[in-house]
Amino acid sequence: MCYYRLEFSEVKNMEKPNLKDARIRTHNKVNIIRNFKISDELKEIGKNKKYLVKTYGCQMNERDSENICAMLEGMGYTRTNTIDNADLVVLNTCAIRENAHNKVFGMLGRLKHLKEERPIMVGVCGCMAQEEVVVNEIMTKNKHVDFVLGTHNLHRLPEVIKNSIDKNALEVEVWSKEGDIIEDIPIKRESKYKAWVNIMYGCDKFCTYCIVPYTRGKQRSRLKEDIIKEVSDLVSEGYQEVTLLGQNVNAYGKDIEGYNYNMANLLSDVAKTGIKRIKFVTSHPWDFTDDMISVIRDNENVLPYVHLPVQSGSNKILKLMGRKYTRESYLELVHKLRENIPNLCLTTDIIVGFPNETDEDFNDTLSIVNECKYDQAYTFIYSKRVGTPAAAMQDSIPLSKKEERLQVLNELINKYSLESNKKLLNKVVDVLIDCKSEKEGMLSGYTSNNKLVNVCAPISYIGKIAKVKITECKTWSLDGVLDE
Ligand code: SAH
Ligand code: SF4
Ligand code: F3S
Repeated sequence: MCYYRLEFSEVKNMEKPNLKDARIRTHNKVNIIRNFKISDELKEIGKNKKYLVKTYGCQMNERDSENICAMLEGMGYTRTNTIDNADLVVLNTCAIRENAHNKVFGMLGRLKHLKEERPIMVGVCGCMAQEEVVVNEIMTKNKHVDFVLGTHNLHRLPEVIKNSIDKNALEVEVWSKEGDIIEDIPIKRESKYKAWVNIMYGCDKFCTYCIVPYTRGKQRSRLKEDIIKEVSDLVSEGYQEVTLLGQNVNAYGKDIEGYNYNMANLLSDVAKTGIKRIKFVTSHPWDFTDDMISVIRDNENVLPYVHLPVQSGSNKILKLMGRKYTRESYLELVHKLRENIPNLCLTTDIIVGFPNETDEDFNDTLSIVNECKYDQAYTFIYSKRVGTPAAAMQDSIPLSKKEERLQVLNELINKYSLESNKKLLNKVVDVLIDCKSEKEGMLSGYTSNNKLVNVCAPISYIGKIAKVKITECKTWSLDGVLDE
């Protein structure tokens, strides 16, 4: 018995993605859509059924999964943490690098076997759904998938599931457009203490290696009123921390014509809500203003933590990447940040092996790491993304060379991580304890400058900001004991 659906030749009315359309940017006004509702007939669909959502990629995708879970629960589904008893599995995918793709297709392979045994429904959402190559591969080689839903129409999930069930066929609904803002999709937050808050969607930077502007549409800032209300509601619900999310948060507000309100204004207003901790990611070095630095310095609840992706230390490579800053201007910004913000935690993203990166270019990356002494860094080997300008660049550097560079870079990064962690030895720091640690009998949480700490503390401390004395410092985490 095989629980497959109709052959794809019989499937009609698909809305497939198109990267060319996704690249278009106009000055058209962004629609803000409100009044999301799940109709009564859809509320019964998931009755007595279990769902599992698997999330890949960045925090914005994690945040989207909170919408997916809430919509599924609104349809009557209940959550399970194992694939073994799931009736519906939704993969919320990431397209940033080839290995993200491979993980998803690996999981689809596993689901294919399961579906040979029982009628499990399989859906693909997220950034991969926006790629033509992916949808074509699903249609030709993954005939067990029931629906594909793009990032611009996440709110259509309940209808798309219903359509797929009614038609007993693959339902593909992907809009390749600049995007709207959908305000009130319900949210099932993962944590009771820390919340992600979108402040903008999309990206207009078009760095030459990056797929995000194609999968997420143009930069659209949410209105400040909607953001402040969301944070104020979180404060009244007892949340301690918010992370303001966007691909390029420093450019907040720039896309709204005549909007005399920027990221510094927003940070300052969010600080006034009284939320204990505010983080924000990701900062593009191009848009970081002096006003933002002052707001971080002057507000205790805006945490001294800046994630400032550098990508490369070589001006030649930065130019080829289309990053719009130079090594010199980046370093100037870092020095300004360090001078003005005490105990700053500075983290970054670095790509090695961009097409034609020479040993000299790579050494420039090592030397910028030596200058910036990052607290932590996410490092990646360049991955070719179909449809981006860098994919057309000739590349003469073998993969083995790139792997070697990554290893050298990681060793240097780890050295600075350990050094910066060691500065906290015997110090008493504030830790927002939010869960059980992977270490038996311990809890874990983050300091205000974003260091992971494992603490010996009773379970009643979960959800509290506690004084902790640091007793041991390692590369990736700290150990501590309560000091109160
Ligand atoms: N908006 C953020 C980054 C979002 S993507 C910024 O501009 O900095 C997260 C990270 O993935 C990037 O900073 C980059 O380091 C990495 N990345 C993006 N595209 C990549 C690619 N094609 N290959 C390898 N790494 C990539
Ligand atoms: Fe990608 Fe660049 Fe936009 Fe970041 S700023 S999401 S790296 S295009
Ligand atoms: Fe991945 Fe899309 Fe985020 S490509 S990194 S999930 S915006």
